[in-house]
Amino acid sequence: MQSEQYTSWLEIDLGAIKNNIRQLKDIAGVPVMAVVKANGYGHGLVETARAAAGAGSAWCGVARIDEALALRQAGLTLPVLVLGFTPTCRVAEAVRNDISLCVYDMNYAREYAREAHDCGGRLKVHVKFDSGMGRLGLFPEDGLDFVKELVELNALDFEGAFTHMARADETDPQITLWQLGRFQKLVDQLESCKLRPSWVHAANSASTLYFPQARFDLVRCGISIYGLHPSAETPNPQTFRPALTWKARLTSVKYLTAGHGVGYNYRYYTSARERIGVVSVGYADGFRRRLGNFALVRGQRINVVGGVCMDQCMVQLDAVPEAQIGDEVVLLGRQGDSVITAEEIGAAWGTINYEVVCGLEDRLQRIYYES
Ligand SMILES: Cc1ncc(COP(=O)(O)O)c(C=O)c1O
Repeated sequence: MQSEQYTSWLEIDLGAIKNNIRQLKDIAGVPVMAVVKANGYGHGLVETARAAAGAGSAWCGVARIDEALALRQAGLTLPVLVLGFTPTCRVAEAVRNDISLCVYDMNYAREYAREAHDCGGRLKVHVKFDSGMGRLGLFPEDGLDFVKELVELNALDFEGAFTHMARADETDPQITLWQLGRFQKLVDQLESCKLRPSWVHAANSASTLYFPQARFDLVRCGISIYGLHPSAETPNPQTFRPALTWKARLTSVKYLTAGHGVGYNYRYYTSARERIGVVSVGYADGFRRRLGNFALVRGQRINVVGGVCMDQCMVQLDAVPEAQIGDEVVLLGRQGDSVITAEEIGAAWGTINYEVVCGLEDRLQRIYYES
């Protein structure tokens, strides 16, 4: 691995991503859409999508058309769906690059159709339904009329219908079952009017794992493909593997006298003569500017002390006397017998594992390998 040249980097195991996708496919029994938006949840958009395709993912899901275009520019040919809003002026690009868009508003549907017609092509669309998320989509009860109008629009191909679960990662299934019931009713209506599209989909990772009735024709999995748990209540099977390790280097080791301040505004004072190290990671990498962070050095868990700076932070090394400049420091992942999980960092930061990995900045070098 070419990590010697870097001071803060991510090591990403594409073998773990492939393993997780294959298992999701087996569990679901239907094709998988790998959700690779937000730079593959920090793991890298194109590399994650390539691994997903290699493991048999049928689709990729992204949030924005620019992410979809980046996949096409990288030579990926599998179907790609933009899950979020797309401005009308981008429709021609979607048509030219065979990218499917979502629609949930008839005025936009008409404009999309006009744009597609004007550029001499056809646009594939998935209609998005709000079955209870309170976010994008039209209500399933209005769905049949909408679809009847939509299929009359030339230059649009009605390829899919989908919805998204708000609370599938919780113990109480009630809301998810209510959402699925609303959506199922619509799917039944479409079926009886011979309007059911090829791809009906509803499941994120948690619903793929815990709600078989949500699987329909395709499951849209994000967090689980990276080996991270949808929530503590809806964990992945133990055979799933996290793909990402976040590393930096020890760039200084020295003793500070008792009562010495550390870092900006002296948010830490040594209580005795202490061995303080400097680590090449900071808040500009996505390492939160807060007290109470932790890391691994030589397989030992140590505390980050003082405030986190933009590119660096300080650590207390009394427990690791053998630590020296150049040592690898693990912020997230395994080192020896010790491990720091994205879930643990999320809990410490008052957020979720999703936000921890999505916050890993571009300037972190990404090194890929396959276990
Ligand atoms: C519409 C949609 N589908 C699927 C997903 C994937 O969800 P998860 O990462 O929980 O599997 C997301 C992620 O936020 C989403 O917005």
